[in-house]
Amino acid sequence: MGIKRIGVLTSGGDAPGMNAAVRSVVRTAMFHGIECYGIRRGYNGLINGDLIRLDEKSISHTIDRGGTILYTARSKEFLTEEGQKKAVSTCRFLGLDGVIAIGGDGTFRGARALSNHGVNVICIPATIDNDISCTNYSIGFDTAANTAIECIDRLRDTMQSHERCSVVEVMGRNAGFLAMYVGLAVGATAVLVPEEPIDFNRDVIEKIRSARFNGFTHYMIVVAEGSGSAAEIAAKIKESIDLDPRVTVLGHIQRGGVPTGRDRVNATKMGYLAVEKLLEGKTNRIICTANGKFTDVSIDDGLAMERRIQKMEVEVLAAMTGL
Ligand code: F6P
Repeated sequence: MGIKRIGVLTSGGDAPGMNAAVRSVVRTAMFHGIECYGIRRGYNGLINGDLIRLDEKSISHTIDRGGTILYTARSKEFLTEEGQKKAVSTCRFLGLDGVIAIGGDGTFRGARALSNHGVNVICIPATIDNDISCTNYSIGFDTAANTAIECIDRLRDTMQSHERCSVVEVMGRNAGFLAMYVGLAVGATAVLVPEEPIDFNRDVIEKIRSARFNGFTHYMIVVAEGSGSAAEIAAKIKESIDLDPRVTVLGHIQRGGVPTGRDRVNATKMGYLAVEKLLEGKTNRIICTANGKFTDVSIDDGLAMERRIQKMEVEVLAAMTGL
């Protein structure tokens, strides 16, 4: 199958490193003499024909930029059969031989719908939540984790000086991968993630108590947003042991900023592989990493997989916070 013209889009929550992936798609396409168009505002761009021609000039100095130069959206219209048909007509009208969709699970479900209508699609995982089951690594996770770690390190300074308790809410939607990683990295007193059943007394109060008996006078509680709000957890701590915790919701700060080297390099590799897969005649695939290697799986298989917090991370956390 000859590939002459492709489209690339970013969809769902943005993630640092998306631009590096777009840049890599464009450069790889140009290397093979393929025209590349940026579809703007996620799947809405396919519905409305909102596109720009991308070349080496338009993507220069984007490898180091957070956000996405293509804008992003969670398209409601694309969830409808009518919206999907409009998007497919745009692909046909423009003569796109393939679409590369960068985002999370929602983006992949959209790509599967396009594929079911005969459009060639390859997906690249990008979400700070790192909750895509078929891949150990998603673009943006590394940057977001490092941003959260830096913020919490700063918080610790003032918590230590004032001998306080801090409750910090980390993003992740329904998943605790980001919170667990960040909690381990900052040496948290306790980490709450939605994947693990929570016994408030055992998992929070006893951890604080044991830290106190071991000579600590400040406490850092990391809460994944999917485990409940930091404000509620802080209120419960106050009610139980009369500490007066300070609450910090890191929020969208975690989604911005200059991508780390790891995010840039992996995004570059994934962008390259996505174009290569189209050239090999593959479609309906997700580029992913497994056992330290880059590979690809079908969108159906990828979406059907389940991913849990590593048992080892839970065990290490228990040892680090058990005292
Ligand atoms: O999926 C990425 C993410 O940042 C989640 O961690 C968070 O729950 C959600 O997006 C926030 O979405 P919005 O940008 O719509 O506030």
